[in-house]
Amino acid sequence: MTSNFPNLMSVCYIGNVELKNRIITAPLWTGFADRDGSVTPRTIAFYTEKARGGSGLITIEYSYVDQVGSKSAHGQLGIYDDECVPGFAILAQTIHDQGVKCAVQIAHAGAMKFLPIAPWLGPSDGFHDLSLMGPLPPLPITGMTREQIFEQINAFASAAERVKKAGFDMVDIHVAHGYLLTEFLSTHANKRDDEYGGSLENRMRFPIEVVSAVRQRVGADFPVTVRINGTDYAPDSPITIDEAIIFAKKLEEAGVDAIHVSGGTDIYLDKLATPTYLKHGFNVYLAETVKKKAGVKVPIIATGGITTPAFAEEILRDGRADFIALGRPALADPSWARKIEEGRPEDIIPCIRCNDGCLRRTIGFSRATSCAVNPRMGFETIRVIAPLKEKKRVAIIGGGPGGMEAARLAAIRGHDVTLYEKRRLGGALIEASWDTDLKRDIPNLIEYYQTQMKKLDVKIVRKEATVNSIAAGGFDAVIVANGAISIKLDIPGIDKLHVYEALDVTGGKDKDLGNTIVVVGGGVLACEIALSQAKKGKKVTITAPEGCYAGEYEIGGDNYPNRLALMEQLKENKVGINLCLLPKEITDHGIISTDKEGKEREFKADSIVVCRGFEPDKRLSNALKGKVKQVRPIGDCVQARFIYEAIHEGWVAANEI
Ligand SMILES: Cc1cc2nc3c(=O)[nH]c(=O)nc-3n(C[C@H](O)[C@H](O)[C@H](O)COP(=O)(O)O)c2cc1C
Ligand code: SF4
Repeated sequence: MTSNFPNLMSVCYIGNVELKNRIITAPLWTGFADRDGSVTPRTIAFYTEKARGGSGLITIEYSYVDQVGSKSAHGQLGIYDDECVPGFAILAQTIHDQGVKCAVQIAHAGAMKFLPIAPWLGPSDGFHDLSLMGPLPPLPITGMTREQIFEQINAFASAAERVKKAGFDMVDIHVAHGYLLTEFLSTHANKRDDEYGGSLENRMRFPIEVVSAVRQRVGADFPVTVRINGTDYAPDSPITIDEAIIFAKKLEEAGVDAIHVSGGTDIYLDKLATPTYLKHGFNVYLAETVKKKAGVKVPIIATGGITTPAFAEEILRDGRADFIALGRPALADPSWARKIEEGRPEDIIPCIRCNDGCLRRTIGFSRATSCAVNPRMGFETIRVIAPLKEKKRVAIIGGGPGGMEAARLAAIRGHDVTLYEKRRLGGALIEASWDTDLKRDIPNLIEYYQTQMKKLDVKIVRKEATVNSIAAGGFDAVIVANGAISIKLDIPGIDKLHVYEALDVTGGKDKDLGNTIVVVGGGVLACEIALSQAKKGKKVTITAPEGCYAGEYEIGGDNYPNRLALMEQLKENKVGINLCLLPKEITDHGIISTDKEGKEREFKADSIVVCRGFEPDKRLSNALKGKVKQVRPIGDCVQARFIYEAIHEGWVAANEI
């Protein structure tokens, strides 16, 4: 039943290759490869699951083309010599076994590396500025000699040939996101005065020579696609859409079969993997502009923040692109396409653009990719749904993300599940999405879980669970997911009527706040509340205890792309940011804080919002011990953390009952 998505589910071609629908899974680094870049069982399990999900085309993540300087990240796939072919061949075969077409993206990192390994190659000598990421020194970029350029043209052509040998249906060349080939297009990075620098014609020369060499090596019938940037959003001398249009035309002349238009770089990462603070389909206009203005006949692929089938269908219906590509949404739910095909799009697990599993933990903590809302992503062969040994009566306390995930899996496994939630279903997600102009994605997750609860006949009890009611319920197992509580600030004046806790604000009292607001705290929620109020025209000041060591880098959390967007918008909306301040006393007219020298500073305000973080609410789980057969606390009631932990722990707990 695909009639609601006639465009999305229609057959289409890239070159001579027929794709069963117009859904492409975008190349997305996983970190599952071995140290030498080879395909691992984990790589195969991940892509097999993706292939079962029924997209028209799966593009394997960026794979490095030589062993000199092209590797970009830990656990990255490499296709730099013929020894790499057998591993890739198994990958192609397992994807084909599911009736899905596949490509490999080939790439050279240039200076865009997450590894501290020289050389950082680029068009010209210079420095790779990392100052947006943190208080980091710039990296030295070595300008490539003409000989090195020729070597790389050959490396790309050889890598493409290996892609073909391994049995893939097409090859994709990475000319986006600030990697080596894009940097030749950028006047910011490319200061050369030879035939590879200066005019646009010259700056396009290297990527076009790569495309021509690849085309020559793989032959006329093997489709070649290219991923480009419509713009990189660099504040000074960006790659412009006007130049991207000319580049697209040139690529078609050089023989490419489709052009995938993205935007941003791994530095301007918020414009590439857009967080929930930015609108959906943030970069679709770039694909649309190329499609409408470049006058090319080859298909154009749009990407970025396309999280729902309805939006994807709209893009195709309105002729803005010929295909849509899913990056993170295909991590959140690899079966995106299949669920549409089966007429149940409401079962798609929505990506909430939190960037927690896929970027925060990967960039920040050097881990492989995982996903907040899909606990099986990357654990395909480990987190396997356990067959039911004995049907049990299971109580779940708390209808937040962890509780609902636990209820979902316990019910799928065949248990008799009762979920206690005194409010409407959603729990902490309701507070987390209080301002849907700011946080646009969580309502989709709430809706998804509400639908699953209904479909799986989970009994909902809309009362507060107590030790007595649970003990009297005769349950065989109890999962406690009742969340966290605010950490109280104990200073004079805290009980005054114009003082609000963060959860009061996200719970609906935002309407009561005055025109001048001081937010106490520098974490993510504090910044979000400040931004939300500033966007409503209020005068907002943040006073944060953070910032004594690394200044503003310490506020807004440690999720790089999300923090980048948050900080940019705080500045745009003129939120005052004052660091390294400890709250001392709340007065009738504002707040007095002390700085690190112990000097007092007074901030006038009509309302004070206190965001001092959260601590686990262990009262119920502790009280239940010994009163029921099996008690398992999960999520924030164990330790206040993220949606990620709540959902993952919910899944694991429900699978073990
Ligand atoms: C963890 C991660 C890894 C990525 N790896 C690649 C990659 O290998 N090649 C590439 O062209 N883009 C890569 N991207 C960008 C995605 O393909 C995609 O363009 C971006 O996430 C925006 O699309 P989405 O909103 O559908 O995720 C990556 C993005 C993320 C979050
Ligand atoms: S971790 Fe968050 S942003 Fe990344 S794929 Fe999962 S839901 Fe989407």
